[in-house]
Amino acid sequence: MAGSNHSFLWGAATSAHQTEGHNIHSDWWQWEKKNPHQPKSGVACDSWNRWREDLALAKSLGHTAYRFSVEWSRIEPQPGQFNRQAIIHYREILEELHRLGMKSFVTLHHFTNPAWVAEQGGWVSSRTPEFFGRYVAYVAQHLGELVDFWIPINEPTVYASQSYWHAAWPPQERSFWHYSWVLRQLAYGHKLAYRTIHRYFSEAQVGGAHNLIPFIPVTDTFLDRLVCHVSSWRYNHTFFNLTGETHDFIGVNYYRPVFFHVRMWPPKIVAVHKEGTYSDIDWMVYPEGLTRTLVDMKKYRLPMYITENGLADKDDNRRSEFIRSHLRAVEEAQRQGVDVRGYLHWSLLDNFEWDKGFGPRFGLIEVDYATQKRTIRPSAYVYKAIIEQARN
Ligand code: FCB
Repeated sequence: MAGSNHSFLWGAATSAHQTEGHNIHSDWWQWEKKNPHQPKSGVACDSWNRWREDLALAKSLGHTAYRFSVEWSRIEPQPGQFNRQAIIHYREILEELHRLGMKSFVTLHHFTNPAWVAEQGGWVSSRTPEFFGRYVAYVAQHLGELVDFWIPINEPTVYASQSYWHAAWPPQERSFWHYSWVLRQLAYGHKLAYRTIHRYFSEAQVGGAHNLIPFIPVTDTFLDRLVCHVSSWRYNHTFFNLTGETHDFIGVNYYRPVFFHVRMWPPKIVAVHKEGTYSDIDWMVYPEGLTRTLVDMKKYRLPMYITENGLADKDDNRRSEFIRSHLRAVEEAQRQGVDVRGYLHWSLLDNFEWDKGFGPRFGLIEVDYATQKRTIRPSAYVYKAIIEQARN
């Protein structure tokens, strides 16, 4: 089965803004404050204070790895002024992971920026990649020897499109030109981060975490196939083409497929809603898509880790089967020669799902936001049993 190799890593992922709470120096916090219709992250899961409990729970569930993000706006709340308390806090988390015998995946940018970065033009400004590089250098110097895997930028394509093209996230722009430019800027930021980290630690493992979507033609016609081919090339591969050799591994964030059909009259590309199982936020459960995605990325000849995969399932009645079927999909990809070395479920805990707020429940562990009480969901035990079986 997937992970019968003893070094295969098992765990879950989170991000700072979604879990820590009171992320007051970030652009997201400022934007939430200004926007009456936007849910507020507030104390979120209070993981800034409860992280020990969260890590202990992950350990008790058999996890051997943990992905989290360090928050740029906490570490550098003002330009060039680094906050020692914040970096000490993240050191403690990494030290605890070592003590627990768990590997760390550290994301350096997970959708949020310091408010001062946003004020001077965000990722449109040509200075931002350099600012990002300076922050990465600081983090590498202060945390580097404790980090196992680095992820400079989470889902660059999602960040650039949600923030600069679809106007869904701050700064809510609707410009295809800015979207394309920002993607290039993020690629530059990624390359700077890659080189900076390798300058301090030549053996470091640095890779991206990419939201990858299998685009599947509804019919076998030339047009349906062409549209899917072009979409995949544009969505899944542009960032790789821009960042060339600066990856030691590929982080795969997989959630759902898109089925495309070209309608002749009136002419239109339509995303078809197929029969099947859907999550609470209407994302289709489609494990075959994970195999397809992994096989599609094989050409880069790099080890892969699933850095996110999960579903919103408040009642926890689909999550166990979701985990089983997606792990079978990983196994199938391995049979087809893909080098997959770990699986990190999204998410360890229920958390703040960006513009959707606290409604969607992605956690292996339920969070009662009124009391901050953590309750392990049954599916987390199913996942634990799978891990134990694989490791024995
Ligand atoms: C991914 C994000 C992550 C979370 C999941 C549901 O795109 O990286 O923060 O919101 O989706």
